[in-house]
Amino acid sequence: MNKTIYHDAVVRGFTLSALFWLLAGLVSGIWLSLELLYPGLNFAPWIAYGRLRVVHTASLTFGFGLGSIFATAYYLLQRLTRTTLALPRLATGHLLLFNVTIAAGIITLMGGMNTTKEYAEFEWPIDLLFLCFWLMFTVNLFATLIGRQERQMYVSLWYLIAMTVTIAPLYFVNNLAIPLTPFKSYGIYAGTVDADVQWWYGHNLIGFIYTMPILAMFYYFLPKSAGIPIYSHRLSIVAFWSLIFTYLWTGAHHLILTPLPEWIQTVAIAFSILLIAPSWGVVVNGYLTLRGNWEQMYSNHIVRYFIFGITFYGLQTIQGPLQGIRTANAFFHYTDWVIGHVHMGTMGWVTMVVSGSFLSMVPNISGKKLHSVRLADLQFWLMLTGQLILTISMWISGILQGSMLKAITPDGSLSYAFLDTMAALTPLYLLRAASGVIYFIGILLFCWNIIRTFTDKPEEGPPA
Ligand code: HEM
Ligand code: HEM
Repeated sequence: MNKTIYHDAVVRGFTLSALFWLLAGLVSGIWLSLELLYPGLNFAPWIAYGRLRVVHTASLTFGFGLGSIFATAYYLLQRLTRTTLALPRLATGHLLLFNVTIAAGIITLMGGMNTTKEYAEFEWPIDLLFLCFWLMFTVNLFATLIGRQERQMYVSLWYLIAMTVTIAPLYFVNNLAIPLTPFKSYGIYAGTVDADVQWWYGHNLIGFIYTMPILAMFYYFLPKSAGIPIYSHRLSIVAFWSLIFTYLWTGAHHLILTPLPEWIQTVAIAFSILLIAPSWGVVVNGYLTLRGNWEQMYSNHIVRYFIFGITFYGLQTIQGPLQGIRTANAFFHYTDWVIGHVHMGTMGWVTMVVSGSFLSMVPNISGKKLHSVRLADLQFWLMLTGQLILTISMWISGILQGSMLKAITPDGSLSYAFLDTMAALTPLYLLRAASGVIYFIGILLFCWNIIRTFTDKPEEGPPA
């Protein structure tokens, strides 16, 4: 029988790129948390809060998020189709262009060139580069799928296809603009149409970057690392179709109680509630996969990343729909509650699952054991502790902020000035910065473990 040779150099390249952008994103996140405590840290324009915040979100969403998605996509695409990558040279070009685009994007954002649309801040030349590397990935994905040796398409492939065909049109439509100079353009939409298109894009970016491809990793690496097949393939497919159908209608839940027509807001709220069902279809499938094998939560250093990750995803998909309801949103919008929601998802779900996937994938592509299982364990506890403290402190901060900003005296004036809220939030902001450092130490151990696994000589790795 012929053995398939996999092209894993590009997987390694994207893995290392993702780690680089993860470190850059976390350093900027910690710096941002400190700037909110010590405003003197805004000492230069290129690290002023407004610029650094977008550096944080862009390096993590595009550099780390997409980098790890491409790494795992190229890996599992070849394994699930039992074939080699159709166009390996194109994949190398994709890796190079990806890093050039993100680096150019980050540098221009630090230079203050920014379209001011959230998660779409890059100016038009960078958007064009973005669409080019996306096209390169799309061609390779479909060419490999067409030449596949395995007839059945496992659910992870469906999630990758959904991401691939959705992101480029979303990105293109939302970024349509009239260029004035290479560094300045004006978006073609105005008013509520602009807001609606922006959040149709923004929410689906969350869905098709921070959810679908992460689910592709979850469905592939959980059964692989546990050595047990997924509980129900049928449930995974039903959840897939209902998830993608429901997701696309929910963007306007970011615009509750705004001038956007009320019926659009109501449709988004209703679809957000419906989204609980397919989301929990995945959570239940994950839990039932481990039935009778729960001791792996102690004995298997990778499985717990996925089970904790899917638990935070489950909590996130209950919190999200509830905070979208009008009365709740009137209280929570514009508060740190949303920042708590964001970081339970990004630090607890996305980064946990990416960590588990890399810890499982890198020994395979380098043909060695993981450098240190102990480091992987320690990383897990540091990440979990850091994420929980950060998330909970932001929820408390959000409740405090909402209550103070809305408190009214008997004569109808505001009880607190904005500065009073900032003073009250200081201990919670200190907790956020400290927990960010704990999380960051966990990530440093992760990077060290992955790099050492690549560089160890085969016989050097300590016993797993
Ligand atoms: C059923 C699933 C979910 C629903 C219905 C949902 C709902 C919401 C709502 C209503 C908001 C806006 C809150 C506000 O500004 O008042 C929000 C914000 C956000 N959510 Fe979720 N969420 C869900 C899952 C997730 C997941 C899995 C992630 C992954 C990380 C995530 C990441 C975010 C982010 C990044 C924002 C902030 C967007 C911004 O304003 O910049 N959400 N979500
Ligand atoms: C060391 C860990 C982290 C720290 C200290 C941190 C800190 C911060 C801070 C201070 C903000 C701005 C909050 C505000 O303006 O009120 C922020 C926003 C954000 N962070 Fe992080 N972050 C961390 C990890 C992450 C990770 C791992 C991701 C993604 C993978 C992420 C994605 C985001 C996003 C999408 C926002 C924008 C939220 C919004 O607009 O509602 N962060 N973060």
